[in-house]
Amino acid sequence: MDKLPGQSSTGDMNSLVIRGGRKLSGEIEVSGSKNIALAILSAVVLAEEPVTLLNVPKISDTEIKGQLLEVFGAKVTWEGSTMHVDCSNLNAGHADEEMVRSIRTSFYMVGPLLARIGNLEMPAPGGCMIGARPVDLHLKGLHALGATIELDGGVYKASAKNLVGTEVYLDKPSAGATQHVMSTAALAKGTTIITNAAMEPEIIALAEFLNCIGAKVEGAGTSSITIHGKPTLSGGEYRIPADRIQAGTFLLAGAITGGTVRVNKIIPEDQTAVVNKLREAGAEVKIGSDWVSVGAPTRLEAVNITTMPHPGFPTDMQQPMAATLCVANGTSIVDETIYESRTGHISELSRMGAKIRQDGSSAVIQGVTELRGATVYASDLRAGAALCLAGLVAHGETIVKNIHFIDRGYERIEDTLKSLGADISRVLDS
Ligand code: EPZ
Repeated sequence: MDKLPGQSSTGDMNSLVIRGGRKLSGEIEVSGSKNIALAILSAVVLAEEPVTLLNVPKISDTEIKGQLLEVFGAKVTWEGSTMHVDCSNLNAGHADEEMVRSIRTSFYMVGPLLARIGNLEMPAPGGCMIGARPVDLHLKGLHALGATIELDGGVYKASAKNLVGTEVYLDKPSAGATQHVMSTAALAKGTTIITNAAMEPEIIALAEFLNCIGAKVEGAGTSSITIHGKPTLSGGEYRIPADRIQAGTFLLAGAITGGTVRVNKIIPEDQTAVVNKLREAGAEVKIGSDWVSVGAPTRLEAVNITTMPHPGFPTDMQQPMAATLCVANGTSIVDETIYESRTGHISELSRMGAKIRQDGSSAVIQGVTELRGATVYASDLRAGAALCLAGLVAHGETIVKNIHFIDRGYERIEDTLKSLGADISRVLDS
């Protein structure tokens, strides 16, 4: 498998070295959204004619997804951040287990591939170790549409003579299951209605893409989505919207360092939950038509956070926010209700002097006036981002290891932070 971005040619992992204490200020843009790109790169197999995707983030997950599409017969070419994907001729390829396990959304291709080729095998998914990551709701939806899927030795064996639209109730508003059922139903016979559907911005963008290639999806962004199945879907061109979690992460870089960071060319509504919490913490937030800026002239005040499905506080911002609250004034409680073990940042932040402890599904954070640089290890994507934020304010040098996790969701995070004034560099692990 090609080396991950950030990996040296010898395959060694790299680290980030951060010298804290600088206020970050300035204006940035972020790449296209990882989670929207991955959702679309599962659904793209539905298109019988070539698709052009603009503003695709150049990160390990999208590169691996492109390789996976090729396994099933797609032709994939990159031109900078533009991906050309031609799925006119697909086959039931043999997906490499390691490749599939490296990204969870490999599994979201099963339904759309079934709609095109009728049967396939797909190793069971992997993804960031933040919880059990079950796919029971995906399977419930695919079975309801008429697919047969059996797990045999860690590999899903799937077949579907024909897919027929139906009602699908999701026990939880799962983003992945909503995407998976919505995409598969686009080529089913008749109409599908998904109730208790996820309402994340990623669902809205995926529906926009599906409709752009000729599907008929209504209600995306609400808890009830109607998909009128079509016999075939065409090609088209779609621009991936900005990454809301990257944007939120860099806004927090301004908040935690007491500077002022403005992120341009984003959808401000995507930041509503984070903006409200930052205002509650005393940050100065300004909102424009396609930008948001955050400044924290004084020390932030402690706030309580509870992660919830959209439009609640996003779980992907939980760990970066926890890092930010480590230097706030007072005690914050951050309750993670979506994943059972999104806690990899807690031990590492403690090594930097944070007073943070786990109490059931919550992190209890007693704000301190300073953190101290240390060597810390990223355990997953957003934990890695949280450690970078902590390093920006810690006294002395922080070395963040395992940054291949961070490279999964942030295109060269050090370049963006450097452009805001951070003293940060990527080094090859000795
Ligand atoms: C997507 O994961 C995102 N990943 C996650 O971002 C994000 O945290 C999550 O949505 C919630 O917004 C991608 O889009 C690639 P879910 P997904 O299905 O689809 C349970 C990041 O950092 N569940 O909404 O896996 C599940 O256990 C990543 O960018 C079931 O019980 O999220 C979890 O508790 C991390 N059964 C909850 O639903 C299922 O069949 C949310 O999962 C599926 C999910």
